[in-house]
Amino acid sequence: MLITKQAVFKRFWYPIVPMEMLKEGPQPFTLMGESIVLWADNEGAPRAAIDRCCHRMAKLSIGWVDTDGCITCPYHGWRFDGSGQCRSVPQIGDKVPNHQLKIKAYLCEEKYGYAWVCLSDDPISGIPEFEEAGDPDFRQVFEFYETWDCASMRLMENSFDAAHIAFVHKDSFGDINKPVPELGKLYKTENGSFYMLNKNRVDNTKVDRSVTGEDDDVTYRTTRTDYYPPVIRKSKIHYPGGLIHSIVTCATPIADGTMQLCQWVYRNDTEEDVPAEKVVAFDRIVTIEDRHILESCDPDVPIDQSRRAELHMASDRPGMLIRNILMELLKENGEQEVYGDHFIQYETPENIEYRKNEVDPVKMPEETGKPASSPVDKSV
Ligand code: FES
Ligand SMILES: [Fe+2]
Repeated sequence: MLITKQAVFKRFWYPIVPMEMLKEGPQPFTLMGESIVLWADNEGAPRAAIDRCCHRMAKLSIGWVDTDGCITCPYHGWRFDGSGQCRSVPQIGDKVPNHQLKIKAYLCEEKYGYAWVCLSDDPISGIPEFEEAGDPDFRQVFEFYETWDCASMRLMENSFDAAHIAFVHKDSFGDINKPVPELGKLYKTENGSFYMLNKNRVDNTKVDRSVTGEDDDVTYRTTRTDYYPPVIRKSKIHYPGGLIHSIVTCATPIADGTMQLCQWVYRNDTEEDVPAEKVVAFDRIVTIEDRHILESCDPDVPIDQSRRAELHMASDRPGMLIRNILMELLKENGEQEVYGDHFIQYETPENIEYRKNEVDPVKMPEETGKPASSPVDKSV
């Protein structure tokens, strides 16, 4: 699937830029291939519009914000408010500009320290709610804001993939000598998505123990990972000693093979217990390991299961549920998956035989709260 070719994904909210960055002036961003500009108005509220002046198409992001909150084009000084309306044209003095002088503005809101944007005026859902936000027992630690050369969906499926830990994270908390993963249990949520519950072994000798709050060499953490379609997940990790480390990961789509990682964490400890720097350092190692492999994966993620472009194993089930949810979204929006035709070059005759024996189709659990017990495909 090529995300920029699927219009339905324009109907979701994405975190775009930390509010702190807007204090430095207008910021450019490319969201699903569209060049946009964000700025903070005179009340500090985030605003977003197309990054093109309607006069001679200069980039507004190299302009500035006036004291009344309008963004000013640096070429001839036309000024636009947060609705996109041109409020003044210096060349006509104090006269009111023609109301048809307008640029396209986008829905834009502040939440969790970020400016969020929806490219459509008709969002399918709101910005996800996280119960830790606003809970006095939790603090929020900002972790990463950086561009990765990988498809947003690759990061999403990786977040639910128990099998990669032993390999990709062998130098941090995984153990390559224990490659058989504990498969998580999957539960459907009322909004049509799902979450996964699992228990992971953590090699505590390779990490700063203050970050996990555990003294033993090996500890087990339980995790609930929720999927918020299309590109957000929250992984709430519970350590035996009571520490909660809840990571929100957003893979904001820039282009088909490029995404902006926006990640923060909620923890029920204090800066005195573990400085934010140490918290970030732990997750830094893990994300570098993930990034290395995810940037190597084909960004054209096949989501139509009937195409069978990939060969899966049991631990891929959450990723297949993600694909099903996205396929449903496409269908509801009257779209078909758009993809390149290069998969055929990966094929071997044995692949085709393998698929004949696969158990399908992949089905969501029938009832809310009912665990999905059986693997979708044969084990390999
Ligand atoms: S191009 Fe923007 S004012 Fe002329
Ligand atoms: Fe990982």
